[in-house]
Amino acid sequence: MGSLSRCCNRRGWVATLFPVLLGMDASTIEALQAHMPSRQTFAARYPSTLSMHSLTTCLESLSLERRNSVDQYRHVSWLDLSQQEAQQDGDLDDFDHDSISMPLYPLGAVYLPTNHTVNHTLINVEPQNIQMAQDLLHEAFVLDGQQHQIVTDPANRPRFCVVLRAMDTGRIASVGTVMSIVEAEKQFHYGTEDIARIRLTCHAEQLIKICHVENGDGWSAKRLMRSQEYLRASVRPFLPTSETATENAKNIQEQLSELSKDWTTVKTMYQLDLGSGGFPPGTISKLGDAIQEVNIEARKDGICRGSEDSLERTFWTFAQEWQSVCYTLRQGQQSLLSAERNELMVEAACAKGSPLKLPIHMEDLEPQHRTQIQLLEGKAQQRHVELGMDPVLDFQVLISQPNIQHCAEWLHFLVKRERQRLESIVAVQYSK
Ligand SMILES: *[C@@H]1O[C@H](CO)[C@@H](O)[C@H](O)[C@H]1NC(C)=O
Ligand SMILES: *[C@@H]1O[C@H](CO)[C@@H](O)[C@H](O)[C@H]1NC(C)=O
Repeated sequence: MGSLSRCCNRRGWVATLFPVLLGMDASTIEALQAHMPSRQTFAARYPSTLSMHSLTTCLESLSLERRNSVDQYRHVSWLDLSQQEAQQDGDLDDFDHDSISMPLYPLGAVYLPTNHTVNHTLINVEPQNIQMAQDLLHEAFVLDGQQHQIVTDPANRPRFCVVLRAMDTGRIASVGTVMSIVEAEKQFHYGTEDIARIRLTCHAEQLIKICHVENGDGWSAKRLMRSQEYLRASVRPFLPTSETATENAKNIQEQLSELSKDWTTVKTMYQLDLGSGGFPPGTISKLGDAIQEVNIEARKDGICRGSEDSLERTFWTFAQEWQSVCYTLRQGQQSLLSAERNELMVEAACAKGSPLKLPIHMEDLEPQHRTQIQLLEGKAQQRHVELGMDPVLDFQVLISQPNIQHCAEWLHFLVKRERQRLESIVAVQYSK
């Protein structure tokens, strides 16, 4: 039994490791797409599968804890859904002029403003998300076909915004991302006209600041009752751009050059399978092969010619790639946890002596076995946090920085921290 569950999980892990490969060039993507889920599906699957034993969910408490030691965390702030007031920034005047009202989609992920360079897939199954998607598609008058809808004119694309929700407090981050719908596909319950799910292909267009949530009162209860009412928020553009363009562009470029050195070291160390303890076999070396080279020198011409704009685009491309690395590591840890957890559950269920009934529920197990499993989950959670490669909170910090130079510094910090972690593993190995 134990080995069977492990074997199944290995397969699950193989399937979920591949998405990171899709950060590669177009031909690689073409070659891989035939038999693999896309990276976007991978990232987007998280919000809907966040379960009891998913890693890193206490986002707000973690972020508060880190504020004391890591300065960049101070830029992350959280809002109550029911807060009817404008946010503390105090610029009430601006907010009246600049802000617009938009549907709000809270979830457990952070999307970087890569715009048309990356397609994200969001699969809507909750009644309120289905309703939101339907309303948006209807507004945009894209009715070519019942199941498949493509919005060709970028200016007319329906838009909504996604925002990180902290599971521990139910609050949302104050900086989110505008998504524009590129394509939609409806799937119906078999033999009926009832929509089972709507798959949206979206571009993460730009960052926004949430001024306030318009109808957040009692949202959790409505959600539990499977209400079709979705949230709306008043939002305004949040532009982490630099003020003195040329001077800063140079700084950012230097920052990225430094970053690319650390990046290459990390890639090489992964390729050597360093730091592979705590991951399914092969995860780290495959990841090392898959990570895209960051060659700033090769991009320098484009960066200079296209000035600020393409510098920003280059930056977000790298940030996106790093986030994929983090997702892959989290997925690796998660797979190992699921395998161990399943094994324990099967053992515990067998120990009860009665015939094995599947699926096994926690409630059916003896208290001492439940405690054992909770301990296992707690340890995995701690390992994940200690690893320092978190695909969510550190990226909320990234999009909350006041300008692109701070963003570049923060990304460099993340990459450098990983390089140092790997180097300390090498040091320990050699000292033995
Ligand atoms: C995103 O890309 C589209 C082209 O697909 C462009 O028209 C639009 O201006 C871009 N948006 C931002 C915020 O850069
Ligand atoms: C995103 O999806 C659209 C619609 O399916 C497609 O035309 C486009 O090439 C895709 N872009 C990327 C970057 O994959």
